[in-house]
Amino acid sequence: MRIVAFLAHKGGAGKTTFLLHLAALCAQGGLRVLVADADPQRNASFHSLEIGALRGQSEGALRRALRDGADLDPTPFVMRSPHFGFDILPGDTSLLEVLPRLEAAWSRGDAQAMLQMRRLLLRLHRSYDLAFLDLAPGPSALAKAGLIAADGFVTPFGMSMASLDGLRASKDWILHWEPHWRKTLGARPRGGVRARFLGGLANRVSVDSQAHRTLIEGAGRLTRSMARELDDHLPGASYILGAAPDFGPRTLAAQIAKRPIFAEVAPESRDIFVRAARRLLDNLSEERGFAAA
Ligand SMILES: Nc1ncnc2c1ncn2[C@@H]1O[C@H](COP(=O)(O)OP(=O)(O)OP(=O)(O)O)[C@@H](O)[C@H]1O
Ligand SMILES: [Mg+2]
Repeated sequence: MRIVAFLAHKGGAGKTTFLLHLAALCAQGGLRVLVADADPQRNASFHSLEIGALRGQSEGALRRALRDGADLDPTPFVMRSPHFGFDILPGDTSLLEVLPRLEAAWSRGDAQAMLQMRRLLLRLHRSYDLAFLDLAPGPSALAKAGLIAADGFVTPFGMSMASLDGLRASKDWILHWEPHWRKTLGARPRGGVRARFLGGLANRVSVDSQAHRTLIEGAGRLTRSMARELDDHLPGASYILGAAPDFGPRTLAAQIAKRPIFAEVAPESRDIFVRAARRLLDNLSEERGFAAA
């Protein structure tokens, strides 16, 4: 199983939207896909599960595992999204309760506590080919635990200079804490230190806008230099994985139906997400240096 985190410093960049649609397509393509909702807003769960299923849900597996530290079997917590076709470990609005504990664990260099999220997901490694981890916006110990849990990460960005600045901020943040984490872990192989950068995903793009094209070119340069600075260069990889248009109020219609946007309201968008999913899987492949799944 490979774990992919969706990370962005900036809120509303499109993490959850891309995650849901790429996960749905990977599942439709025959991969066994798990979504892990590590955002207390639990938007991924809200958009992919029926209201009844959400109501019946209490404490989530992630909160339990991060709070109690014991090795928890997440299997009983897994639900199936009826229309997206993936399994999901639902989010938990009280997940923030574990944040002070996790921040403290980070400060005292408690590697076991920081690795707890990875350990929880890896309990399911025989059942899934891919796990997509939805993270809350911004830097926090939860986001660090997510990047430590994942094998790779992607970062969506919107059509604004602030969003590009968010890409830079994520990279600077990782460069700031990674040496400390390496020291905490001691001598370990490269794999398992933190997720490798797999690329950016452009969101709300107007194809006929010259300004947007210029911005995406800038993002292409920025993502390539991010990969170099993070020492994550994937030879020959394309670092802009895809570009989604602005769907306007059609996203709301899809959310109300709890279905992917390409299922009914914007069928023409399927190809866009298919291409992005292919590039993501390509960047995550053994040919790019990832260990066999
Ligand atoms: N391409 C798009 N066209 C129209 N609306 C979009 C598009 N992408 C995202 N949205 C809407 O914008 C809002 C934010 O998107 P999304 O939840 O995917 O971002 P996020 O990065 O996960 O946000 P957060 O940081 O709060 O977790 C949502 O209401 C979503 O439906
Ligand atoms: Mg989100």
